[in-house]
Amino acid sequence: MRALCLALALCLGACGLHPPGTSAPDAGRVAAAAQDPDARLEFRVDGRTVRVLTLGELTALIGPETVENFDGYYHRAKRFRALRLDRVLAEAFGGAVREPLRTRQFLLRARDGYTVPISGERLLEPGAYLAVRDLDRPGWEPIGPQRANPGPAYLVWREPSQVDLETHPRPWQLAVIEIARFEAVFPHTAPAGEPDGSPARRGYAIFTDLCIRCHAINREGGRVGPELNVPQGVTEYRPEAQIRAYIRNPLTFRYSAMPAHPHLGDGDLDGLIAYFRAMALRKHDPDARPDAGP
Ligand code: HEC
Repeated sequence: MRALCLALALCLGACGLHPPGTSAPDAGRVAAAAQDPDARLEFRVDGRTVRVLTLGELTALIGPETVENFDGYYHRAKRFRALRLDRVLAEAFGGAVREPLRTRQFLLRARDGYTVPISGERLLEPGAYLAVRDLDRPGWEPIGPQRANPGPAYLVWREPSQVDLETHPRPWQLAVIEIARFEAVFPHTAPAGEPDGSPARRGYAIFTDLCIRCHAINREGGRVGPELNVPQGVTEYRPEAQIRAYIRNPLTFRYSAMPAHPHLGDGDLDGLIAYFRAMALRKHDPDARPDAGP
């Protein structure tokens, strides 16, 4: 009975599900599939849920591989059982989207509110994987001083050229993969009316690239860091020099989950400040209650 079950399990996992031209998963994978097979990953297109798959279902559809690479959160090499992300996306969005996925914009949403916009071109680069098990230790090794648990699904990148956390973000506790135009999801973060090429526009580009994954403006964006525009804009309650110094290196102020940005030049910081000032004049707060005094 045991042998039959094993054969069946192996076959369910490894037989018949792989189109010609793709490699079959390696044999040991049944023993080391997803750490949490019941965890669900949701796939959305323009706000509509098109598919919900458990990690167990995904692992059965897509043979996991062993992926090893330097991990910028652990500061050393890590090994994971992981699913090729291009296959995950093809499986999940296959029927729902007609255009090639690499031409679309994506949002990766984590359980804690971390929300990172990323282009399809980047997300479909060879080397992107969805890690479903930490192979270096049972359970998931916690990350950083906050001891965050990256599971049950953690985005990782395999190539040495993909270790920079800003260009190749690694959202952990991934809950939703969404196809959506940035302007549609975050319409109130743009400095409307500012001309192209202005400092505020430059700051907006930096903000969407590096900051919006953790910070909201006008209640739109990530929830890991504080909202920076409503009720008060950050330039309204903090001196400009302090904001600049904080963005460059928050750890000189306090221990926090905000990364340092030492590579941002004075022009980049001028842009960010111009963007914050522009947004302070464009407040939008769906939650504001005029009657709610202190
Ligand atoms: C990984 C998440 C993360 C990213 C990315 C991030 N921040 Fe932060 N940020 C935080 C957190 C968390 C805090 C709150 C820290 C605290 O209070 O200890 C914070 C605080 C701040 C503050 C201080 C706000 C206040 O009133 O105290 C500013 C200003 C700020 N961030 C700007 C930025 C800018 C600009 C960027 C992009 C260049 C950025 N942050 C990127 C997480 C992030």
